[in-house]
Amino acid sequence: MKELLKKMTIEEKLGQLIQIAPFFYIKDLKNELYGPAVDLGLSKEQIYKTGSVLGIGSPEEMIEVQKKYLENNRLGIPLMFMADIVHGYETIFPIPLAIASSWNEELITASARVSAKESITSGIHVTFSPMADLTRDPRWGRVMEGYGEDPYLNYRFSAAATKGYQGKNIKNDGIAACVKHFAAYGLSEAGREYNTVDLSEYQLKQNYLSGYQGAIDAGAKMVMTSFNLFNGIPATMNKHLIKDILREEMKFNGVVISDYNGLRETIIHGISKDNKDAAINCIDATLDIEMVSGTYMTELKSEFENGTLPIKLLDEAVLRILNLKNELGLFEDPFKGVSRVEHDKIVLSKSHLDYAKKAADESIVLLENKNNVLPLKENQKVFLIGPNAHERNLNGAWSWHGKRDVNENLFDLLSKKNLVHNIDAADVVVYFGGEKFNESGEAKSKTDINFNFGQLEEIKKLSAYGKPIITVVASGRPLILTDVAKHSDAVIQAWFLGTKAAESISDVIYGNVNPSGKLTMTFPRSIGQVPIYYNALNTGRPKNNYDNEYTSVYIDSPNTPLYPFGYGLSYSKFVYGEIKLNKEVMRENEKIVVEINVSNDSSRAGFETIQLYIRDIFAKVSRPLKELKKYQKVWFEANETKTISFEITESDLVYYDSNLKQRIDEGDFIVYVGPSSDNVKENIFKYSGRTKEIWLSLI
Ligand code: IFM
Repeated sequence: MKELLKKMTIEEKLGQLIQIAPFFYIKDLKNELYGPAVDLGLSKEQIYKTGSVLGIGSPEEMIEVQKKYLENNRLGIPLMFMADIVHGYETIFPIPLAIASSWNEELITASARVSAKESITSGIHVTFSPMADLTRDPRWGRVMEGYGEDPYLNYRFSAAATKGYQGKNIKNDGIAACVKHFAAYGLSEAGREYNTVDLSEYQLKQNYLSGYQGAIDAGAKMVMTSFNLFNGIPATMNKHLIKDILREEMKFNGVVISDYNGLRETIIHGISKDNKDAAINCIDATLDIEMVSGTYMTELKSEFENGTLPIKLLDEAVLRILNLKNELGLFEDPFKGVSRVEHDKIVLSKSHLDYAKKAADESIVLLENKNNVLPLKENQKVFLIGPNAHERNLNGAWSWHGKRDVNENLFDLLSKKNLVHNIDAADVVVYFGGEKFNESGEAKSKTDINFNFGQLEEIKKLSAYGKPIITVVASGRPLILTDVAKHSDAVIQAWFLGTKAAESISDVIYGNVNPSGKLTMTFPRSIGQVPIYYNALNTGRPKNNYDNEYTSVYIDSPNTPLYPFGYGLSYSKFVYGEIKLNKEVMRENEKIVVEINVSNDSSRAGFETIQLYIRDIFAKVSRPLKELKKYQKVWFEANETKTISFEITESDLVYYDSNLKQRIDEGDFIVYVGPSSDNVKENIFKYSGRTKEIWLSLI
């Protein structure tokens, strides 16, 4: 690639740093515009020097654009096509927050693998996924796109998705993963999209970076910067964030791209004076590609020609991009994998749909099941009502290739089986409500995340029939279900489950699938509790320590959430024994083995996700009341007991101190094991290694 670089003019080099939409090459191709359509001010000649494309609709479109481009590009450097393949290409999987509830890394990898295979046939080379933003505020519409509130799960699941996208050999059968939005975009103030973020570097490192790190450690080729500020400076041009933290500390050596028009938005933030200033700030911060703006091209030529900016800065950025194109095999074959025939053969194929079904099955979370009203017996009839009962589009946001006409709706599916009756004849009422597919996703922030008031009133009226009410909730975020839970006999959190949504919901209702999902984001009792998350710090006045009123409580609500992190019911009944440790004291370089017996005390086989948390009682900085460190998702036959064992190593005890150094301290640690964060057994051990400052990879 270095030889190629030598042949390139400055303008050709700058072109590689520009990403534009397909309609700049062929008008009428108007896919995927998640921001203002920007006038880039690029000439026709400059358009044929640009480096990559945002969004493409089909194999034919890709071939047309790439062909036309190559006919006009002096050096024959192929375009790289990028798109948001977030939870499926045409076979749509559950939204990431839903599939996170499966706590099944293999399934996350498999879903990303299927997405990659289908995307390749359309000529997509890079996906803007996984989204690893840690989220604690359900008002933000994009919580649907991430894996929830826990740093450890964010790490594991981002890594799992990255492996699936990129495959074993990215050149042959992978697409590059672009992890986003770096960094801490999930902390947008008040849950409002594109809003300010303000957090300390200590917080950033302790909680917010691990999701991105998971993808990077799994080999993600790209990182997208976020729209927000860090330390008052937009991430897009934040040199400390991109260069010092991302490239040096986190060891990322790939391509960094801005978010949509993010470079020019540094002007609106009031940090760059004008386009030139913005371009200089961003290139200096080592932002390699600007998405849908052309300022590097229009503003920086003279700066590099007259030496105001060192050419090394440009060359390094271009090399990173050329190397990625090379790794993807685009120089050998710019049309790699694009094929209408292959597309039609594998898209929505049986095996892909089977994965989508399995993923949907395992993503459903059973929140309530009073008197074991569920599962229904196979001959029990339902009265099916609610705004989502006839809805085919249960794909959720970020599924722009997903075709809703291939989805079946719940009403048709149950009617075909002759299971839907009017109310008099029905045994139970199934109310399918919640959000519509376009109520969550980008730019879908809400101030009110209550279950829709009108829907709640309908549920209340339905109780007059005296039949059990099963409420099925579609949503892209935790909604407030406090009243829904009061007025329903069972509540099924069905998220947006994708192509196979209706089948999986029906299978859970009728017990063909035993629900096993567990929440990865806390469900509040009321909006006033937000942000609420399980791995909170203690206060100086926790409720249980005092019996007077000056404690950290609300006067109108319990502190506890409605449904905590890690929570989810099953049709099986799992019983946990006591925690056994193989030793009381853990010395340097040693590990502790934690064992617990878990029994399925029922005649139903099923999955249980056994969760291990730790609390560091005394440290240099205040440590969370609980932190998830391990989990196992285990299949239990009816009435089966298993001994589950975990190993705790020193890396599980590491934390950041206020000097931003990672360390472990001597002292006591509580270990908790249970079926959810609020329902655990506990034991205690001592770490007696030397106190040390260390840098350890989290895995
Ligand atoms: O990838 C997305 C990003 O997450 C939000 N803005 C638009 C990008 C490209 O579509």
